[in-house]
Amino acid sequence: MEQDIEKVLVPRQHIASRLDELAEMIIADLNREAARVTSGGAASGGAASGGLEITLVPILTGSIIFVSDLIRRLPIRMQIRVMSVTSYPGKSTASRGASVEAALTRIPESLAGRHVLVIDDILDSGNTLRACLGLLRERNPASLKSCVLLRKQRPEAMSFPVDYVAFDIPDEFVVGYGLDFDDYYRNLPEIVTLKPDVVAKV
Ligand code: IMP
Ligand code: MG
Repeated sequence: MEQDIEKVLVPRQHIASRLDELAEMIIADLNREAARVTSGGAASGGAASGGLEITLVPILTGSIIFVSDLIRRLPIRMQIRVMSVTSYPGKSTASRGASVEAALTRIPESLAGRHVLVIDDILDSGNTLRACLGLLRERNPASLKSCVLLRKQRPEAMSFPVDYVAFDIPDEFVVGYGLDFDDYYRNLPEIVTLKPDVVAKV
């Protein structure tokens, strides 16, 4: 695996310190949102018992490492409801459009009163996040925010509204820290690019 790496774009120490910052922002915003909803008279994110509560929606499979590191920095009541979307099938390195895989998606019929945060690995064309946000919005959450580990510096991604971005990266194909090429490389601890011959030869 190591020999396939071209360069490291985001080293592990940067990921760890940025996750600390993101978690702080998410908690601060959730506090504000819960106060706003409560003062409006509605239920506060399922937090009727007093504490803050959030519903995280990780998008499979690329967000799993990011989410597992992020949730351990969010010491609040939390439900996790996964969504599955197909967009980069197999060995492709370009999006083929996004569709929600109903069989693997675990979202309740109603999200009324819930503060929902959808989490993806990377914002590229925006198709994946658009499909997920559309489905979630129909279920009437009290608030709906989105968070990505990476955003590619290309117009479609930069103009797509997203609430939290850990890192902006150049418009290159990356793997590691959950991101894959043909389902490999997700377990690399850093975000890297692959040597051109590795991507070309499969
Ligand atoms: P979008 O739908 O084009 O925004 O792409 C989002 C999805 O495509 C992500 O959830 C990833 O699974 C995949 N993807 C986009 N860019 C990359 C990349 O550079 N490496 C690996 N997967 C990617
Ligand atoms: Mg993928």
